[in-house]
Amino acid sequence: MVTNRTFTMLKPDAVEKGHVGAILEKINVSGFRIVALKLTQMTTADAKAFYAIHSERPFFGELVEYMTRGPIIAAILEKENAVDDFRTLIGATNPADAADGTIRKLYAASIGENAVHGSDSDENAAIESAFHFSGREQF
Ligand code: RTP
Ligand code: MG
Repeated sequence: MVTNRTFTMLKPDAVEKGHVGAILEKINVSGFRIVALKLTQMTTADAKAFYAIHSERPFFGELVEYMTRGPIIAAILEKENAVDDFRTLIGATNPADAADGTIRKLYAASIGENAVHGSDSDENAAIESAFHFSGREQF
């Protein structure tokens, strides 16, 4: 398992609002190297599988609707301490609680529509990266 990588999605709201360029710039200047990157759209089955851990939560239906309603940017990022440093860069799940300067503080509208995903462990980073990218798409 590669432990210096994380996985991210710029969620449909970030793409719809035209924030992709600004968010990728922030990711780059924060020291992350892009290992893989693509514009793609999740199917309902994709979103249900990706967020299966939340399937019993009351917001699961809304989450699946949201994550499938338009294209996303999927990416694998590399940096020392990538998982934790990226969670710091994106900020709290609820943008109202996110620190100043974080991606969610700058670009997210609500706890439900919060602009960006970040893996929560090295193990999930590897699983989520393999969900979206083949080995041939990683550099
Ligand atoms: P993510 O997995 O997308 O990086 O977000 P996270 O770890 O900060 O938060 P998590 O608890 O894993 O929740 C996953 C996503 O579900 C939506 N959510 N909605 N309405 C709500 O109360 C609620 N809570 C969570 C958000 O899109 C959240 O990022
Ligand atoms: Mg999460």
